[in-house]
Amino acid sequence: MALMPFAWMRGLSLWLRPLRGLVARGWLRESDVDTWLALLHPALRLNRVMARVVARQWVADDMLALCLRPNGNWRGAQPGQHLQLYLQRNGVRLSRSYSLTALHADGSLEIAIKRQPGGRVSPYLLEQLAVGELLELGPVHGQLCWPAAAQGVLLLAAGSGITPLLGLLRAALAQGCSAPISLLHYVREQGQRAFVAELQALQGQYSNLQVRWALTGADAVDTELQGRFRAEHLQAVADLSQRAVLSCGPAGFVGQVQQWWQGAGGHGELQVEAFTPPALSADISLRSVRLGFARSRQVAQADNQRSLLEQAEALGLKPAHGCRQGICASCTCTLLSGVVRDLRSGALFSEPGQPIRLCVSAPHGDVEIDL
Ligand code: FES
Repeated sequence: MALMPFAWMRGLSLWLRPLRGLVARGWLRESDVDTWLALLHPALRLNRVMARVVARQWVADDMLALCLRPNGNWRGAQPGQHLQLYLQRNGVRLSRSYSLTALHADGSLEIAIKRQPGGRVSPYLLEQLAVGELLELGPVHGQLCWPAAAQGVLLLAAGSGITPLLGLLRAALAQGCSAPISLLHYVREQGQRAFVAELQALQGQYSNLQVRWALTGADAVDTELQGRFRAEHLQAVADLSQRAVLSCGPAGFVGQVQQWWQGAGGHGELQVEAFTPPALSADISLRSVRLGFARSRQVAQADNQRSLLEQAEALGLKPAHGCRQGICASCTCTLLSGVVRDLRSGALFSEPGQPIRLCVSAPHGDVEIDL
């Protein structure tokens, strides 16, 4: 049982500074401190961001919006970005990335989760995660931003690509954006149209907003468009060449948008974000890389051959370790950005939030590690 209310979590972060200093000097271990703090409240941590689920809302047949209230370690984010979410299932730490659909003035935030059939994370979040439970949040990433100077904006989303664009749209309208905005969302069938009631209400409230859906796997009705993205779908968008274009969705969809944009002369601004990561190079010839250790605030030039454990020790850091052979897992840390290579298999890992074993992982390019 918690010995203090969750509402104290935000204010308590400042009081933990002396403990952070002791951990930074190596006099205390962060994991030990976190164990003591969790006795006061399960959401209290020295540096880690824990968030309480404060609301759940179905926004499509296969998509759930979660409102989360983070503890005082949350450092904020920008609309259009996405964050890592961690959870423990059957003893395994799992991580997924979700876009922020809203950032509220009271410090709470919203993400939307689409069901991935056969997935290990989304079915649990959609069906079992209850209001009041805690999740761990990781780093925030993402470059999409609202083109404030544009004379008009065209938002093109497919599937869960609607989520970062909705976050940007909500913030822009709340800040008084008066430029013409068109949102076109591609889904397979009607039940997958997300946030329909809210988008229709916004369309009624803001005369500069036009929202349409396109169905790729079912017959379109009323004003819906039919089929995958193509230029004819944009015929009703006024002053198309003046518009900044933001697109988010699977790599294939985003690629089609890029092709259309280039074919149309590539005027104006184009921002894209695709879910599927690009193919990774298997080149392992010796090269210099930039190595960052976030919590130790160390950045150094390193190489792509030696293990992260060796290179961290060469910098004077003392990461926890045991076997140095990839067996005991005691050197496991979180990858924040970049690509690392497993020295045993040659496999490349690039997902932010991915746990990696420092003793058998080498940087494959510039990387940042949560150490
Ligand atoms: S030290 Fe044992 S897995 Fe790295």
